[in-house]
Amino acid sequence: MEKRLLHTPEGVRDIYGRDYERKLRLELEFLQILRNYGYKEIDTPSFEYFDVYSGEIGTTPSDELYKFFDKDNNTLVLRPDFTPGVARAASKYFIDDNVHVKLSYSGNVFSNARSLSGKLKENTEIGAEYMGDGSVEADGEMIAMAVELLRSAGLKDFQICIGNAGYFKGLCEEAEIDGELEMNLRDEIGNKNRFAAANLVKDIEMLESQTDKLLRCVELFGDVSVLDKALVGISNERSKAAIDRLHAVYEQCEKRGIQSYITFDMSMLSKYNYYTGIIFRAYTSSLGDAILKGGRYDNLLAKFGHDAPALGFTLSLDDLVAALNNEEGGRTKDDGYLTFALTKGRLADKTIDMLQKTGICLSEMEDKDTRKLIFTDETNKVKVFLAKGPDVPTYVEYGAADIGVVGEDTILEEGRKIFEVLDLDIGKCRMCIAGPESAKELLQHHEMIRVATKYPEITRDYFQNVKHQTVDIIKLNGSIELAPIVGLADVICDIVETGSTLRENGLVVLEEVMPLSARLVVNTVSMRIHAYRINKLIRDLTEVINAVEPVI
Ligand code: PRP
Repeated sequence: MEKRLLHTPEGVRDIYGRDYERKLRLELEFLQILRNYGYKEIDTPSFEYFDVYSGEIGTTPSDELYKFFDKDNNTLVLRPDFTPGVARAASKYFIDDNVHVKLSYSGNVFSNARSLSGKLKENTEIGAEYMGDGSVEADGEMIAMAVELLRSAGLKDFQICIGNAGYFKGLCEEAEIDGELEMNLRDEIGNKNRFAAANLVKDIEMLESQTDKLLRCVELFGDVSVLDKALVGISNERSKAAIDRLHAVYEQCEKRGIQSYITFDMSMLSKYNYYTGIIFRAYTSSLGDAILKGGRYDNLLAKFGHDAPALGFTLSLDDLVAALNNEEGGRTKDDGYLTFALTKGRLADKTIDMLQKTGICLSEMEDKDTRKLIFTDETNKVKVFLAKGPDVPTYVEYGAADIGVVGEDTILEEGRKIFEVLDLDIGKCRMCIAGPESAKELLQHHEMIRVATKYPEITRDYFQNVKHQTVDIIKLNGSIELAPIVGLADVICDIVETGSTLRENGLVVLEEVMPLSARLVVNTVSMRIHAYRINKLIRDLTEVINAVEPVI
């Protein structure tokens, strides 16, 4: 027998024993709780026409869908989530004017995520959709159900974070921003990347106060007092209405006695145009990502011919089982320490120096002969370890580290889901296309050329989207300058810091792709759970960056 037959493909797995029992029990209990709220189960097909999940309807990028053809050559997709399928079915069978439809579902969803990302490609989800009711009571009920499910599962430590897509939208309208700029700004603010957002609007003609209001979204998160801060200086009706709605949602939560679980975040913006009003997510300190996601999607039903408001949430049962196992095993992120992953090599000394200036004691790390991997400052409750650059975003995405310091090049290349919160102004260099002087021609005439690089994603993006040139990319792992010298490639896409490696090898910079520097990155859950400490760290580091060395 072939041993290979015993293995499952990457990203899917067998579930059995205690985990499977737990998953089944939770599924049954959850469906019963939803039934008590009046939700009736629906089972939609595992695959549908591509159009049901494409374009503005979908929440999953097209390249992450499992697509295939039927015998009539229709493109089909394995469902990446339930909501569009349930909305389609509800539009077909249930929705008439003024009828409220409450549906619940459970089943598997599929995402063709990047290989070796550690993400499951098949997940069991359970969720609820409430259609035909645009009231704040419906918002309150949806959030209360989410809390009840997580509480009944025995999850001890979680919080529900609520935002409202209308707040940011109103600010964009006020500043007369729309289209691509609005989308890019939404992505950067959603990533809490204030300086990248500032960069996007720096050349746009608008009042300084408008820029400030847009960029301030990044800092507006925390308890209910955030809502009042969010109103300061706001004159547009849409943003005001969004905050009023959040106040009303909070009142609903108070009425239901669940206000202690609630926080607010004005930068919680979905990547997709799907959500129109409140957006909420549940976070637990034992997982590195949201365990439950939901919100109001008042435009979705119109795509299926029924213009009715709707909202819902979905919860990953696999993640919940993992979170419960982590809590029981004492593996939660909230052990009182903030854990930092720093990049080894050139950046390390400068980063350690900056952190020490904020008062963190890392003297143990100055011993270059130490074989220790993790260093602890007990007074400040900080743990620090060094890792290879490309691993830093991975540690941070999964929550193994709360905070990371890593070059912008690595962040772009790895494409991890992390918050990029501060430009540390160290490790400054440039991503460049370099090669022998004679290769300049090849770049100008748009010929098909070979590019060697450690950064295939950045290279592909530059040649495809900036230069519109077709190239062959060859991935190497180091000493990239060798490639054009020995004839493996025409040019390279690589980092240039002092320029001496190029000079000493008879190569020159041919084009600049982008300037680079080191960034402070933060895990999306840690940012909420350790909000106070991380915000203080950001302020302290900003002071260190801005401090002018005294002239002696
Ligand atoms: C980086 C980069 C260049 C060099 C540029 O390599 O890939 O080779 O630094 O620096 P310079 O402009 O100051 O000469 P690194 O030393 O990190 O190692 P690698 O060659 O193994 O990639």
